[in-house]
Amino acid sequence: MTHRIAIIPGDGIGTEVMPEGVRALEAAARRFAIDLEYQTFEFGSCDYYVEHGQMLPDDWFERLKGFDALFYGAVGWPEKVPDHISLWGSLLQFRRRFDQYVNLRPCRLLPGIQSPLADRKPGDIDFYVVRENTEGEYSSVGGRMFEGTEREVVIQETVMTRHGVDRVLKFAYDLAQSRPRKTLTSATKSNGIAITMPWWDERVAAMGANYPEVSVDQFHIDILTAHFVMHPDWFDVVVASNLFGDILSDLGPACTGTIGVAPSANLNPDGTFPSLFEPVHGSAPDIAGRGIANPIGQIWSGAMLLEHLGYPEAGQAIVKAFEAVLAEGEVAVLTPDIGGTGTTESLGRAIAERIAG
Ligand code: NAI
Ligand code: MG
Repeated sequence: MTHRIAIIPGDGIGTEVMPEGVRALEAAARRFAIDLEYQTFEFGSCDYYVEHGQMLPDDWFERLKGFDALFYGAVGWPEKVPDHISLWGSLLQFRRRFDQYVNLRPCRLLPGIQSPLADRKPGDIDFYVVRENTEGEYSSVGGRMFEGTEREVVIQETVMTRHGVDRVLKFAYDLAQSRPRKTLTSATKSNGIAITMPWWDERVAAMGANYPEVSVDQFHIDILTAHFVMHPDWFDVVVASNLFGDILSDLGPACTGTIGVAPSANLNPDGTFPSLFEPVHGSAPDIAGRGIANPIGQIWSGAMLLEHLGYPEAGQAIVKAFEAVLAEGEVAVLTPDIGGTGTTESLGRAIAERIAG
């Protein structure tokens, strides 16, 4: 069975880390006899916008919908295109039209990387944030009235549906069930947001009836952010609405050191449409063009892609490979953001060699 992967390097360091992401995929595909086929697209980048006046061609949906996964680098080059245009014109289109209703981010402290939290070592931080990615607080329901007058009014409604909330909760419970600790934490705020959030809590409890082995706790979002910093070892799988998940999915990886290594997946778990895998970082104009960007965020996203396609051992082999290279800590191989003197390519090659075995 051939899996078709759409490669969209995008902008800046996206174009530099993508070849290393593909190198790692190739190494894992060879070792585990997985048949991957790639097609690279220039759209979804600011250079494409400068030439065509839009981020994506009109027929992007038709062209991409048949792929098994999308592998994205990074999008954004504010000198050429304002960020809200480049982001809304590309990534957010994919997330919406391909109904990628789960945003999944591992938060894991890796060997050889210094956590900004004192005295934390690998093993202390190892959890997932599961963010609802399509509705909730990020709705288009609302508007402005009496603009520019003393009576100016602005309203934006939170929209939560049973369909939308239950499906992300099911994903989070399934993930918790599959992990040794089998623990799910729900982000809530049912004291202050007294209509939607008590209902969210009810849905969490109702879904939990299907998962007797999973232990569940919940925290209000304010104290939960404090616990991320004070007790990151408490967490296993954390599930949250769109806004709360947005905050937690930046805070979690931040607790593990450099954002250059953090991966993410935008998942359509039922497989109706392709899912999208991308590093958490952006296009990093400040270091772009110098060949020194850390490729691990892209490579780890590739590991998540293989897991999603049904090859967990291949994904694990990639993770083990970069953990081993980081643990060795050879200065000439590592990129400058993690204390090395090497390049994107030296680190990418070292990891690919490890994957090969
Ligand atoms: P950024 O993530 O591009 O960079 C933030 C800082 O982290 C910079 O100092 C950069 O050098 C460093 N950094 C990022 N990735 C790195 C890596 N792999 N290795 C070493 N250092 C790394 O965020 P920023 O500067 O706020 O945004 C730049 C552009 O990227 C903007 O146009 C923004 O809209 C876009 N962006 C795109 C994202 C995406 O494609 N999903 C996510 C975040 C930002
Ligand atoms: Mg964010």
